[in-house]
Amino acid sequence: MISYGKHYIDESDIEAVVDVLRHGTLTQGRRVDKFEEAFSNYVGVQHAVAVSSGTAALHLACLAADLKQGDNVITSANTFVASANCAAFVGATPIFSDINPVSLNMSPCDLRNRCGELGHVEAIIPVHFGGLSCDMRAIGSVASEYDAVVIEDACHALGGTYASGERVGSCCYSDMTVFSFHPVKAIAAGEGGMITTNDTALYERLIMLRSHGIFHQKLLTDFAVANPAERFESKNEAFEDGRINPWYFEMQQLGYNYRLTEIQCVLAQSQLKKLDKFVATRHRLALRYDEAFADVDLVKRVQLDGREQSAHHLYVLRIDFQSLQISRGDFIHRLLEMGVGTQVHYIPVPLHPYYKSRGYLLSDYPETASYYQQALTLPLYYDLADEEQALVIESIRLLLA
Ligand SMILES: Cc1ncc(COP(=O)(O)O)c(C=O)c1O
Repeated sequence: MISYGKHYIDESDIEAVVDVLRHGTLTQGRRVDKFEEAFSNYVGVQHAVAVSSGTAALHLACLAADLKQGDNVITSANTFVASANCAAFVGATPIFSDINPVSLNMSPCDLRNRCGELGHVEAIIPVHFGGLSCDMRAIGSVASEYDAVVIEDACHALGGTYASGERVGSCCYSDMTVFSFHPVKAIAAGEGGMITTNDTALYERLIMLRSHGIFHQKLLTDFAVANPAERFESKNEAFEDGRINPWYFEMQQLGYNYRLTEIQCVLAQSQLKKLDKFVATRHRLALRYDEAFADVDLVKRVQLDGREQSAHHLYVLRIDFQSLQISRGDFIHRLLEMGVGTQVHYIPVPLHPYYKSRGYLLSDYPETASYYQQALTLPLYYDLADEEQALVIESIRLLLA
């Protein structure tokens, strides 16, 4: 059975993990710092904070941005639930924006209209759907009109670039960018995530929130603190005769245990070395699908203009199942019988019972609703063999004939 997505692990990944198991610490050690450094060098950003998942990354980004009850947070209606849930985690109100039918990303025009209706917007969370970066210039211009924080959900887009050429993650259009290292994503750590930022104050908040809101003595070095007395709040507890008590740390805000283990960090770092190769192969496979479905009736290829910049997390087709007179469920079942697994990205977030029961209506997002009727995600991953891809193409073309 060919699945729609999967990770790729080689001997160097296995050796890296075994090495941690044989030597050194399993969590809270220097390998986390090293991974963060390698990651920030790769994307071209000042700071990177490794966390336990993409969802944890979104949650911490919302906390660091001080989002709270009464705040409006806008994300795309076509995304995974975590992009919206993070607003709810901090008591803010998730709001959805409709998509552009071709890029499948948040439509800046729709975003502008919704911001106008709301009157105030505290944060915008654009999602780089399938690996294709959003129109960040246009989104950034709406954000600055409303003085809104921009948190990019780049869980699909590690290895991709913006139209302007910078890497996604460089935060050249945002305050923070978040990534996921779930196994179907560009690099796998089992579970894992990252937040990048060029804002040192946000970085320091993220580091503390990741670990219970605690300020401990290692942070004096990590944050290059010139005067330790200024950083500890309980000076009487922290110092004795002008010296720091060696055992002392203090919790200054409510944080979490969202740390990434050393085992996950070395796996992710080993995978990061292969990222360009992964993306290049996914790009080649995407172009092959583009060619294979160029002349097929009832099929619309999407995101074509972004092929050079996308990280190619997903390859999606729009299929007019209604005119085909086969339901999507039936189509997917028949593909399964031929050994081809596919998926649908995404069930629009407002359609999930949690959101529906809170008054969200899919009909408020007509482009997302129409795309959802037609969406089909084809298999796309690094070691998808040419013969396997040929079978996928042949099977789909057969059902469409
Ligand atoms: C767009 C998007 N955002 C956030 C997440 C959450 O990431 P994680 O599964 O690492 O928590 C995902 C994961 O599927 C995602 O696709």
